[in-house]
This record gives sequence, structure tokens and C-alpha cells, in this order.
Amino acid sequence: MRLAPQASPGTDAEALATLLQTRQTILPRRLGEPGPEGAELHALLSAAGHAPDHGRLLPWRLVLVPQQARPALGEAFAQALCERDPAANSEELARARDKAQRAPLLMLVVVDETGGDPDIPAAERVLSAGCAVQNLLLMATALGYGSALTSGKALASAPLRAMFALRDGERALCFVSVGTVLSRKDARERPLPAQYVSTLAAGQARTP
Ligand SMILES: Cc1cc2nc3c(=O)[nH]c(=O)nc-3n(C[C@H](O)[C@H](O)[C@H](O)COP(=O)(O)O)c2cc1C
Repeated sequence: MRLAPQASPGTDAEALATLLQTRQTILPRRLGEPGPEGAELHALLSAAGHAPDHGRLLPWRLVLVPQQARPALGEAFAQALCERDPAANSEELARARDKAQRAPLLMLVVVDETGGDPDIPAAERVLSAGCAVQNLLLMATALGYGSALTSGKALASAPLRAMFALRDGERALCFVSVGTVLSRKDARERPLPAQYVSTLAAGQARTP
């Protein structure tokens, strides 16, 4: 049996709170070299593996997009734009291509919504992927890097699905970008628990 390491409540909670408060979206155009490599990259990717996973399906995967593959990804973005908007002009296409060039570390998050145990619904699989992504973002923050999630219509497009060899039942959820912070915006105001927490009143429960 492998025992998980125990947290030390005071210091670990404080460190985690700092980390949570420090993380903010740094958009890919504000992320420069260097990005995480070697042991840091390993730590980042390993953090994702600590996500909860109902049924141990491992219903998500991460696909790294190295620099050599960025031009092809840019082409897929441009093709996706052409499919959506055949009238897209060369400036818009250039902007779509350029999106693939930002941030030293770029990866796609893919969820398998149907494979394996049919009793585990898609929502739980996406939730597991979300936990994995947050682990990754927090590890990036702990290592001193900035990070961002990006999505967009291209994710569901045929060119992107073909490029990442997505199978039936798989969905591209978002890209994760990580790199050195070149500039940042002010941190946004956070919602308070009162805005998203309620308490179920006794007697509110209904019987059918
Ligand atoms: C699945 C997902 C996809 C996102 N895609 C985009 C995106 O395409 N463009 C963008 O500017 N922000 C994107 N975001 C980032 C949110 O806009 C950002 O998290 C939000 O503004 C809150 O800011 P924070 O991350 O600093 O807390 C995405 C966030 C999530 C969870």
C-alpha cells in the first residue's frame, strides 16, 4: 500500500492560499521565453495526474505542441477560420496563424466523454479534466510561470480534430499556455463565498 504524504495544516494551507491568490490568467501574447523544461515540465505534467478521477478512467489527455508543430497548428487555425468565414481576409488569417506561435509551452486538453465505463457521465469526465488543468496551472504558478487557458470555435473544427487525431467521443476542451510573464494586468476582483454558496434548509428536502 502506498500512503499519501500528509499535509502540515498551518504552513501548507497558507502556502496554498498564496498560490491560489497569485494565479491569474496571463494571456499567451504576454508569455515569453523561457518556459518550463526538464524537471519543471515533468513537475507540471505530473501535477495533472493528481486530479480526482471517478472510476479511474483517465478520461482526459494532454497533447504538447512543440515549436516545430506550431506552423501546422497555425494552418489548422487558419483553415478553421476559412470554414467558419470563407470571406476572411489575409490579415484575419495571419492573426489566426499567429495564435499558434505564442507562449513557449502550449498543450491541448482533450477529454474522452464516452469511452470505458458508460456509467461515468461526460460531466464527471470534464470535471476531472478541469481539476487536472487547475493542478497544472497552480504548479506553473508555484514554479514562477504565468499561464492561461484559451478556447474558441477552432477547437471543434474539422482541421483541428484531424490534426490532433481526435477520436469519436473525444472533445478538445482548451489550450493551456505557460511561460515567463512579460507583462500582466491587475488582478481581478474575486467573487465572495456569499455569491456562490447557499445552505440547504432542513425541511426543504422533498420526497417524491
Ligand atoms: C475552459 C476555459 C477557456 C478559456 N478560454 C479563454 C479564451 O479563449 N480567451 C481568454 O481571454 N480567456 C479564456 N479563459 C480565461 C478566462 O477568461 C479567465 O480565467 C477569467 O477571465 C478569469 O480570470 P483569471 O484566470 O485571472 O481568474 C478561459 C477559461 C476557461 C476556464
